[in-house]
Amino acid sequence: MKRIQIINGPNLNLLGKREPSVYGNQTFESYLEELKVKFPELTLTYFQSNVEGELVNKLQEVGFDVDGIILNAGAYTHTSIAIADAIRSITSPVIEVHISNVYQRESFRHHSYLSGVCKGCIVGFGLDSYRLAIESFI
Ligand code: DQA
Repeated sequence: MKRIQIINGPNLNLLGKREPSVYGNQTFESYLEELKVKFPELTLTYFQSNVEGELVNKLQEVGFDVDGIILNAGAYTHTSIAIADAIRSITSPVIEVHISNVYQRESFRHHSYLSGVCKGCIVGFGLDSYRLAIESFI
């Protein structure tokens, strides 16, 4: 059975409440249940943290074992050399996802430290970005 780890970064614990016009009305927990029903053949695990170092720790912890990592690093996407170095250091492939189309937004969201070290990027399809990332692993 394939193991896929989803990792969400800062403020993504507020999905459903946070800027619904940008990020929608659904909580990630409820969306995750839908994903588990849709992909019963996968072991899907989920981790969220608002703390940069905890995201690095999780990447190091799972990044030599799981078949794929889906990472939405939130605002750390645009700032974190430490997360980019963690992705470089592990062996599991990482897909960068974003709920919103960051290229339609402020220019500081147009640069990602992570895109160049990820297998690919899925940007702007709402929560469906995560499903598309899963499909790419199977
Ligand atoms: C985001 C886009 C980032 O720019 C922002 O800081 C987030 C969410 C997205 O999923 O659209 O927190 O990663």
